[in-house]
Amino acid sequence: MSTVIKGGTIVAADRSYEADILIEGETIQAIGPGLSGDTVVDASGAYIIPGGIDPHTHLEMPFMGTTAAETWESGTFAALSGGTTTVVDFVIPGEAGMLAALEEWKGRATRQASSDYSYHMCVTGWSQKHFDDMAKVVDRGINTFKHFMAYKGALMVNDDEMFASFQRCAALGALPLVHAENGDIVAALQQKYMAEGTTGPEGHAFSRPPEVEGEATNRAIMIADAAGVPVYIVHVSCEQSHEAIRRARQKGMRVYGEPLIQHLTLDEGEYFNRDWDYAARRVMSPPFRNKIHQDSLWAGLAAGSLQVVATDHCAFTTEQKRFGLGNFAKIPNGTGGVEDRLSVLWTKGVETGRLTPNEFVAATSTNIAQILNIYPQKGAILPGSDADLVVWDPKLSKTISAANQKSIIDYNVFEGFTVNGLPRYTLSRGEIVWADGQNSQPQPGRGKFIKRKPFPAVNAALSKWKEVTAPRAVTRSPEHMPIGV
Ligand code: URP
Ligand code: ZN
Ligand code: ZN
Ligand code: ZN
Repeated sequence: MSTVIKGGTIVAADRSYEADILIEGETIQAIGPGLSGDTVVDASGAYIIPGGIDPHTHLEMPFMGTTAAETWESGTFAALSGGTTTVVDFVIPGEAGMLAALEEWKGRATRQASSDYSYHMCVTGWSQKHFDDMAKVVDRGINTFKHFMAYKGALMVNDDEMFASFQRCAALGALPLVHAENGDIVAALQQKYMAEGTTGPEGHAFSRPPEVEGEATNRAIMIADAAGVPVYIVHVSCEQSHEAIRRARQKGMRVYGEPLIQHLTLDEGEYFNRDWDYAARRVMSPPFRNKIHQDSLWAGLAAGSLQVVATDHCAFTTEQKRFGLGNFAKIPNGTGGVEDRLSVLWTKGVETGRLTPNEFVAATSTNIAQILNIYPQKGAILPGSDADLVVWDPKLSKTISAANQKSIIDYNVFEGFTVNGLPRYTLSRGEIVWADGQNSQPQPGRGKFIKRKPFPAVNAALSKWKEVTAPRAVTRSPEHMPIGV
């Protein structure tokens, strides 16, 4: 059985052009004019883009005394309905370590996922076992390790632990990821604002100012440089952090930055809402910032100093958010976005002229696939690539509302946003898994784990340059030494 997508304009990261796409089985067979196949998918008046990749989700993540309520089943179907065909989720090791946690994640994902998926492994401490397990994790198809500089007393790692892990990443050809906020200062500021009587969600924003993020970003970049490894900063929310990344890149360092669709479009005013539930539902780390920071993030995407747009989809119900009534530091941190990332970015980015359609594709798919080393299997419209394709209809419009979303959460942080640009069809490995207006259903268990190989090239280049430029002891012959020594 073959499928042909006809009549659309292919929008890739590098160019746009009119062509049909022939799909055989799960992959793209041919691209060109006048192709035919057994089934025809109509793309007239629409764009065809590579399926979105969300490099940052936390489905059913155990966190802050509860578990994120968005399941693998609901979250991956929500993703497909919004044009995202692959999610990359964070595995958090418990007492039993990385490999046991990986089995847990596998159990949930294998049974429930409708979309394809991959994992990042979190490094939440340091020991010989961490050192050994990291190699086994890489063998299992995971080439990224995440470090939290915040969440003191829980997931946070210190500089020496991070340096050890980064060096291990360098040796294994893996890429370290960092949640950059100064966790000690956040903890102290949380206590200060609580002591002063600020107990509501606005205290969350007060205790995590942009400087706290900027300092940690600088520190993470310095540690990566010392370890001779590239580094990827997740959820970059402010100018201070973006500035650190920009400056490092200008110095020739391989540093990547990931803003979230939430930080690009929602501001700190959300935390001052008089309705406690409204404000608490928006609590995430780092918090939403003001317009100056938002402009900086948009500029970074246009200029290339920031490369990808993610969601950090970590969705808790209103009831779960209420664990933090009376103490903002106990509000489970996280917001959703996996369903709406593409349509909101298209509307606020492409429709306003901040981004070109090609830049949109780069930020939502192609750059991510390249940075995570799954290009061109994912993130590309090329013969041989997985047929993860979205027929993107710029004339489809809706007003985002929890009342009709696929996510099972009882609210949506984009409630009331009118978006233009939505999937007419989403194809995952050649199969239509979402069709607008046609009552598509989740297909739990359909999604496949996407293995990601280590990427020795960048790491090898960095270690070579480190070796070439390493400080070396001076050899002095006796006649150049003080007499009598
Ligand atoms: O608030 C957030 N971002 N929750 C998810 C965990 C994390 O820090 O990424
Ligand atoms: Zn984080
Ligand atoms: Zn996260
Ligand atoms: Zn001499």
